Formats: sequence, C-alpha cells, structure tokens
Amino acid sequence: MKPIEKYSEIRTQFKIDTIKNPDENIAYLTHYLHNRKNGVSKYYLHKAKAFFEKTMQQSLQKSLASNLKFDIPFPENNKTKFTFIDLFAGIGGFRIAMQNLGGKCVFSSEIDKYAQKTYELNFGEVPFGDITKIDATNIPDHDILCGGFPCQAFSIAGRRMGFEETRGTLFFDIARILREKQPKAFFLENVKGLRNHNKGKTLKTILSVLRDDLNYYIPEPEIINAKYFGVPQNRERIFIIGFRKDQNIDAFEYPQPTNEKITFMDIREEKEVSVKYYLSNVYKQTLIDHKNRHTSKGNGFGYEIIPNNGCANAIVVGGMGKERNLVIDKRLSDFTPVTRIKGEVNREYWRRMTPREWARLQGFPDNFLIKVSDVQAYKQFGNSVAIPAIQATANILINKLFIFVIILFVLQKL
Ligand SMILES: C[S@@+](CC[C@H](N)C(=O)[O-])C[C@H]1O[C@@H](n2cnc3c(N)ncnc32)[C@H](O)[C@@H]1O
Repeated sequence: MKPIEKYSEIRTQFKIDTIKNPDENIAYLTHYLHNRKNGVSKYYLHKAKAFFEKTMQQSLQKSLASNLKFDIPFPENNKTKFTFIDLFAGIGGFRIAMQNLGGKCVFSSEIDKYAQKTYELNFGEVPFGDITKIDATNIPDHDILCGGFPCQAFSIAGRRMGFEETRGTLFFDIARILREKQPKAFFLENVKGLRNHNKGKTLKTILSVLRDDLNYYIPEPEIINAKYFGVPQNRERIFIIGFRKDQNIDAFEYPQPTNEKITFMDIREEKEVSVKYYLSNVYKQTLIDHKNRHTSKGNGFGYEIIPNNGCANAIVVGGMGKERNLVIDKRLSDFTPVTRIKGEVNREYWRRMTPREWARLQGFPDNFLIKVSDVQAYKQFGNSVAIPAIQATANILINKLFIFVIILFVLQKL
C-alpha cells in the first residue's frame, strides 16, 4: 500500500471534521504527526497508535517513517528557535505570530468546534478541547505559554487572594499549567477592561498569583493598541508578560508604535462584494432611529460609518460589533437581494465589512482559510488577536530570552 505523503490525504482518509466527526483521538493523531520527530511524541503516541491500529490504516503507519508534507497554509518553520503552547487557541492568532518568530507549537487547546475547524484547516492540527479537563502533566514541556484567555470575570473571596482562590476560573487553569510546567516565559492577552475590573482587584489577584505564588518576574502589564502596529483597527488590549526568575530578566520594554499610516482602504476587498453584506433600507433606518434616540440621551453609541481613509473600531463578538464598523462602498452593481431581507437593499451603499476584511483588521494574511459560515467567521475574528501587535511584543520577549541564553553560554566559557 502506498504510504501517505501529504497531510491533506490524512484529512480525507480519516474524515477529519471537528463538527461532523468530533473525536479527541484526532487531536492526539494530529499532535503526534506534528511532533513525532522532536521528542514530544511520547505525550501523544499511545492514543495516536491506538487510533492507527483501530482504523487499520497501515499506509499511515508506513508514512510516519517517511517525510510527511504538511500541505496547509501555515506549516511550521524548519528551524525551530523555541517551543510554545497555544491555550484558548481560537483560530491561532498567537500561533501565526509565534511561528513567524521561529516558534514550534507543541500543544494547542480550544473548546469551540467551529474554531477548531478553522484551526485545523490552517495548521493541520486539531486542538485538544476543554482545558479544565486536561491534566497539566499531559502537556509537553515548552519554553513559552501563550494564551488570550476569555475575559470571564471572577470575584475573589478571602483576603490574600491567592492561587487556590482563583479555582473555577480559566485563569486558574493557566496558573496550574504554569506551576506544573514552569515554562521560561509566558504571554497572556485580555481585554483592556481587565485592568479596572472589580476596582482593579481582579488584575491584582492575577499578578499576585503570577508573582508571589508562581515566582515569575512580571513587568507592569501594558495596554497596547493594534492601530499603532500596522492594522487600521482601534483595538486596545492588555498584555501580561512573565519570565521565570532564573532567567534573570528584570526589565522589559514593550514595543514602540511603528506608526505606519494604514487605513480601511488598505484592507478593503479588492472587488465588489456580495449584496448580502449590504444593509436593507429597513435595518438602516432602525440603526439611524436607534442612534438618534441614544444621541438625544447623551449616549454616543450606535452605528458608525468608517471612512475609507479611517481606522475601524475594535471588532468584537455580539453587541454592535458589525454595526460600529459600517462602510460605504459604491461598487455594487446589482441590488437584487440574495438573502431574505426586510424591504430593499439600501441605495446609499451602506454595507458591513466582510469576514476577510475582519481577518485583515487583525493582521491575518490572505492565505488564511475561512471555511465556516459568516456568523462563525465574524465570531472567530472578533475573538482573535491583532497578530502584528502580538508579534512585535513576542519578538522583544524572545530576544530577551535568547540574549540571556547567549550571555550564559559566554559566561560558562570564561
Ligand atoms: C478570546 S478567545 C482567544 C482567541 C485566540 N487568541 C485567537 O487568536 O483566535 C478565547 C478562546 O477561548 C476558548 N475557550 C473558552 N473556554 C475554554 C475552555 N474551557 N477550554 C479551551 N478553550 C476555551 C473560546 O472558545 C475562545 O475561542
């Protein structure tokens, strides 16, 4: 039987489909395939093997000895500088940034089946599911832990606000993995609002656990705006970086803005977009009425039209995410609706941005595959990270780690 040569053949043969065919063994299988030559395979081999045997795919077994070509948009770098894990992985915004810097992902986890689907299509790996169910000892050693953890709020009882009191929150899962695996560094991302949540107590607890219980050096967290890093999106996020104390790092400078002038026009779809993105005149009027009511009450919220030479508002899931990022695009040639709408397509050319435009607002390259419904795609990009801001920060973090390794190396030689 001919050995399997390409990852896409595995996808077809094993019917990899996180929605129709959810199976944790596929996470083991795909993690094994990515890590079979780097000493990490022992974490995945037992279940992956059971899977091959069960499915009697001898051709796959044969192919494991040969070079498997990962014919996916974002294969990893041939030269690995460091390893990382991708927690709350979403669709892999962190993964792209870290791979661009020479990182090799050795473990990923994401609970949402649709996000898993997008992740698998682009990276050839099905993330493991619910992190709260994963024993930290089953996660391979790694240099850097990455996680844009959900902004699930938590309240803390007790005075000292330590490790145990965060139990039941997703931050606790990050903390217990840090405690068990002790990576050299970590990079956490969250909404700006974390800074002031519960009068600042939540962040204080997080920092106290990371600094006092887990003994990491944490520079003051920084709010970073994506718009200063080459994407036209006003997205402010809090970045929390940490270094294991034995790395002897006691200073960290966050990246300076690149100040590259970039506007919506730079990321707009090149061609006319489907009429389905254009608002119905009825909905358009609803938005106008809603805004008028709120403006008269002194509330600034409501729809917003982003000028071609402007910068988008933060793309977010739910709420007014799409409506606060409307554009006027006069390239529409046919106003016949293709979906069921109330009234007619508006004649003033108001439309929503497309999922591809949202991808670009987050710095995703155009070869990033989007094969889910628009509803899921907006959710996935809205939840994701602005890759250039992550990459600029991670670059400094990695240089710090490497400089230390080089200095240590030189010192040992003296
Ligand atoms: C803010 S998003 C992070 C997105 C990611 N950084 C990216 O670039 O796409 C948080 C993600 O955590 C996932 N999540 C929530 N609870 C989880 C759990 N218990 N285990 C694993 N993933 C979880 C959500 O489905 C969501 O995709």
